[in-house]
Amino acid sequence: MPSLSHRIGLFTESVIRKMTRIANAHDAINLSQGFPDFDPPAELLHALKKAALNGPHQYAITWGAANFREALARKQSRFMGLSIDPETQICVTCGSTEAMMTAMMTVCNPGDKVIIFSPFYENYAADAILSGAQPIFVPLHPPEFSFDEEELKKAFEQKPKALILCNPSNPTGKVFSLDELKFIAEMADQYDVFVITDEVYEHIVYPPHRHVYFASLPGMFERTISCSSLSKTYSITGWRLGYLIAPASIIDGAKKVHDFLTVGAPAPLQEAAVTALNFSDEYYANLCQQYTDKRDFFLKGLDAIGLTYTYPQGAYYVMVDISEFGFPDDTAFCEWMARVVGVAAVPGSSFFREDVRHLIRLHFAKKQDTLEGALQRLSTLKEKAKKGVH
Ligand SMILES: Cc1ncc(COP(=O)(O)O)c(C=O)c1O
Repeated sequence: MPSLSHRIGLFTESVIRKMTRIANAHDAINLSQGFPDFDPPAELLHALKKAALNGPHQYAITWGAANFREALARKQSRFMGLSIDPETQICVTCGSTEAMMTAMMTVCNPGDKVIIFSPFYENYAADAILSGAQPIFVPLHPPEFSFDEEELKKAFEQKPKALILCNPSNPTGKVFSLDELKFIAEMADQYDVFVITDEVYEHIVYPPHRHVYFASLPGMFERTISCSSLSKTYSITGWRLGYLIAPASIIDGAKKVHDFLTVGAPAPLQEAAVTALNFSDEYYANLCQQYTDKRDFFLKGLDAIGLTYTYPQGAYYVMVDISEFGFPDDTAFCEWMARVVGVAAVPGSSFFREDVRHLIRLHFAKKQDTLEGALQRLSTLKEKAKKGVH
């Protein structure tokens, strides 16, 4: 038999998706993979039914159905404070996952360097490998997960082609401050570097923090590829709708990559999702309030159990410190916790470049009942760990 490509030996399967399988095997409450267990907005479900009956059911325009792009351009122009042209500055993809891969393949040649902050969403390392790029990891230092300007400057001095910016950040829940973004912008300008953003949590930012779109900073639109999706904003992670927004010269290239990767995002789902893209500002305010309530409830529960964690400023993840439990590593801990306590989390080490094994990531995008059930189970954690229950 011929051998498989070298490429696939360079990364492992997704730890996040693996933890979902472990959760299912042990009937654990799954707080590992970040998706809601509540329904999307009812209007969206009605629109989906209508699209199922009336179509379209064949390929949409490869870079996105015209009505979807027009609605998206209106919505993003409003939130980003830019005037986005639906014809030339948008490419619709299968989720932000494909958008990020497309962005990397559009700007990087094999061997090009890409700055990635660590901890990072696990896809970025695989994206770099698949596009032939070499990551330069720059640490985000806890507890604020801020970067050291000198360390970042040194990374820029290595002449990278692009920087990946996940804001708000998964897994840390960090929301980059305006000053931090301005510093990145100054560096990107000085060293002539693209910035590829992943902003899937753009509407889940807890006051007083606020989301600043990198592309909206003075002079930055020209070098920014803004990737995002409808997955988290409308609780439709399974619909696989995402997009890139960038200047026409970049989108022209991205359209070609996207066309040969997937041809296009699902046509009936684009049709239905136009309803969501036309929601008023009230929808986004309610979404943020809903997640603020979930965050506050969940963190209060963790406080009552006596766990130490990092405080999320955005997104819906919390990193819990497991040092006190004396496990050899976070993966062993997560497998034990899913089996014995009945709650699944993601080992923090899967997000870090550095050797960090004392954190696990839980998410709280769940119904009240599910969160109560998870906290109930987690309340047995300390006792079970102390007694060495296996
Ligand atoms: C930072 C980040 N980017 C991208 C994704 C995947 O997004 P999509 O469903 O749009 O592919 C996730 C999902 O958890 C995420 O946390």
